Amino acid sequence: MRVEPQTSHAETAPAHPPLESLAVQPLVNRDYESRPALFYERLRAEYGPVAPVDVLGVPAWLVIGYPQTLDILRDTRGIWSKRLDSWRARREGRVPADWPLLPAFEIDNSVFRDGPDLTRLRGAWSEGLRPFQDRTRTQAKELERAIRRYADELITVLSENGGRTGWTDLSAQYARPLPLMIVGRLLGAEPGRGDDIIMDMWRMLDAGPDAAEAAGRLTAEVAAICQAKLTAPGEDLPSYMIAAVPDLTVDELTREMTMLIGLVGDYTGTLVCNTIAEVIAGDTGVRDSISAGMLPEAVNRAAITSPPMANLTFRWPKTDVRVGRFLIAAGDPVMLSPAAAHLDPAFTGTMTPDSIYSSRAHLAWGAGPHACLGRDLATTITTIAVERLFERFSGLRLALPADQLPWRSSPMMRGLRSLPVTYELADEPQRSPAGPAGGPAAGDAGPEADTPVAAEQKSLVRRVLRMMRLSQP
Ligand code: HEM
Repeated sequence: MRVEPQTSHAETAPAHPPLESLAVQPLVNRDYESRPALFYERLRAEYGPVAPVDVLGVPAWLVIGYPQTLDILRDTRGIWSKRLDSWRARREGRVPADWPLLPAFEIDNSVFRDGPDLTRLRGAWSEGLRPFQDRTRTQAKELERAIRRYADELITVLSENGGRTGWTDLSAQYARPLPLMIVGRLLGAEPGRGDDIIMDMWRMLDAGPDAAEAAGRLTAEVAAICQAKLTAPGEDLPSYMIAAVPDLTVDELTREMTMLIGLVGDYTGTLVCNTIAEVIAGDTGVRDSISAGMLPEAVNRAAITSPPMANLTFRWPKTDVRVGRFLIAAGDPVMLSPAAAHLDPAFTGTMTPDSIYSSRAHLAWGAGPHACLGRDLATTITTIAVERLFERFSGLRLALPADQLPWRSSPMMRGLRSLPVTYELADEPQRSPAGPAGGPAAGDAGPEADTPVAAEQKSLVRRVLRMMRLSQP
């Protein structure tokens, strides 16, 4: 798809008041949560491709046009910064100290770096992830087998109290715990220490009353793991990252590995849940893709319809820049919205409704210098999770009307708080027959029997689910 540059340097004085006086429309509101398409279309009709909004008390520009979002992501002219010190209002002390997103923005990981700093950290990520994302590598094959085992065991446990039919919350009992279990493995946590890490991740991501305490414990635990990998490297992500960039400090690595917890535990869990919800309740062709056996295609469609990262963390222009109808001043915060961009006729118009393949030009994984580096891993986890679920259950139905599904109230994430369903088990519990692309992974000898490792993983699944049930309000 050819995209014309949509942003240009300012040549004239702004013909409108500054952002601070314009941003009266709260981003997070009832329509944004339950009917986002309606909300974004209203903004588009009123303001065009970029709209001034209030993000939990802080004014920001929300970019909702597809070509504009892509242009800013690609940043071919190098005018966009992700460094927090580019934020003019923050430098001038106008950002409230208790602004809810500030702790996440102040972590100072690769998300908020530019230039050589960013290149160095991204180099560590891409080399570190390679053994887990290249499906010809041993680690990738082992990881796929582990994901299948966790998925199968979670399904067995969630359905073991009833007969062939029953009720469950697929978010709390399946979509969220599954990726969390994978984090411990990627980190190379010692087997006995995995449970505590998983539970603290759960408490932190749930943002309940003990979230701050859990986050503190978790950071300390992640730092201890990273420190240990410096002297005793293993076959895990932090060790591979150190091998790729040997001057990586423990602090830097700890910040990136804390980000990993959010990326795998939260974002990937959200994509799993959103994909399942689209298959069960959506009318966007995701179900057709599943029926046709095209699981990665179903995941791609769900990423377009419900991108987990609906709106991205802020960027700031280094110079005044015109976007759509507005002149964005240097240092104004800009939030890109893949969710809204996917609804822009400039994007939807490129798709033919009856095509069996959806567009690959979507922005759910970002693009340009900050594009997602874990896309293949997240897709593999989601694909296996969905494959196992629809293999083991012959019937899955929403337990409440689709328009009453409880969506999270978040300016950035689009995900469900719970996914209550009624289920019917398939006749014979199937053991996973195929790799995520619909064929066996090269060299995959198939599901393992109950080796000691598999038995330990089974009991981990049971312990974690029990703890999660106990922690439900
Ligand atoms: C469904 C799950 C995921 C989604 C929707 C997602 C989406 C994204 C998006 C939209 C960006 C670009 C952010 C921006 O431009 O502001 C991004 C960046 C990134 N993602 Fe993902 N991601 C997911 C999972 C993962 C996983 C599992 C990993 C690693 C294990 C990962 C690693 C990264 C990294 C390293 C970056 C680059 C950070 C930077 O350079 O700023 N992601 N992701």
